[in-house]
Amino acid sequence: MHRSLLVACVVLVSLGFGQFLAAEPALKEVFRGDFRIGVAVDTAEIKADGHGGAPSISHHFNSVSPCNFMKWEPFNPKPGVYRTEAADAFVDFGERNDMLIVGHVLFWHKQTPAWVFQDEQGNPVTREVLLERMRERVRFVAKRYGKRIGAWDVVNESIENDGRLRQSKWVKIIGDDFIEQAFRIAGEELPAGVELLYNDFSMATPAKRQAVVRMIRDLKAKGLRIDGVGMQGHWALDSPKTKQIEQSIVAYADAGVKVHITELDIDVLPRTKDMWNPAVAAKLEKDPKLDPYRDGLPDEVQAKLAKRYADLFDMFLQHRDKIERITFWGLHDGTSWLNQFPIKGCVNHPLLFDRDGKPKPAFHAVVAAKSEKRAP
Ligand code: GLA
Repeated sequence: MHRSLLVACVVLVSLGFGQFLAAEPALKEVFRGDFRIGVAVDTAEIKADGHGGAPSISHHFNSVSPCNFMKWEPFNPKPGVYRTEAADAFVDFGERNDMLIVGHVLFWHKQTPAWVFQDEQGNPVTREVLLERMRERVRFVAKRYGKRIGAWDVVNESIENDGRLRQSKWVKIIGDDFIEQAFRIAGEELPAGVELLYNDFSMATPAKRQAVVRMIRDLKAKGLRIDGVGMQGHWALDSPKTKQIEQSIVAYADAGVKVHITELDIDVLPRTKDMWNPAVAAKLEKDPKLDPYRDGLPDEVQAKLAKRYADLFDMFLQHRDKIERITFWGLHDGTSWLNQFPIKGCVNHPLLFDRDGKPKPAFHAVVAAKSEKRAP
């Protein structure tokens, strides 16, 4: 290396530009013009952004989703009690960094406090009371955040994989028109321009796909607004097939909505069919066969993961006109929920950044999917 260039590098590094010189390409720039790249974050990650070795949120991402703190339980644990500090800081952060800020989630059968469904004596409330409580929640966030939150997951996980309506407390009290009522309230209370989404897992399963398409068409026929669907993207190395995911993207777009890949991670651990049952999972906690990558991911699995991500992004790029955003569910492998689910205390490797915050082969494969211009 020429001496003056070497000196310049040493000076820059000593001035603290080391991180800048070493920085990998920003995902949001790689895919600018295709779709946004998002990440789900918690409060500590926002505070630490750019420090402490984790990947930089503001460098890589132009959309953020809240992990837990805007769900009904943590946000509004008791009637009239709102804990907004985390959400306020999250929205400020997203705004400062010019990101699409996603609200997650207005109505879900999980992480909703019991009081929502009960009167003071603990009896189930009426349909009217529950609809009013739903409206109050939406009014509150509409008043506090307005258009600063650009998209809301209005309903999460209300259709079963076989296409039937989930028999949640929402449906038991409100009736089969729960989803319709939720979108009616969201459409009336949130400002125009805020995107309203239906979000769910297994959205590539044909029976569920058909049910979601029917639901979208039904809402639209009733004059209600639904702007997008969120395909959660909690996928595995071999399933669902990329083709099946693609068929869903096309079907949802044909039904007249944008597609958001909302919770992307690729589970690399061996799974058994029944381990999704919590009682079974608890018994399997000490089984080393189900947690084989505690010391790191072997090269061959690393390569499989990279190939899976490359295939997905190749396909996403081919449908860039239909896809608005790809959001990863977690910033790096160390903080992924898949270390705790379905079995507690596993070492999973589902994301693009490893536990040290370093880009993995999967990261470079995703960048290459774009730069090799395999997409049109
Ligand atoms: C679902 C929810 C998310 C999150 C994940 C697990 O997909 O939509 O909010 O709870 O499960 O981390």
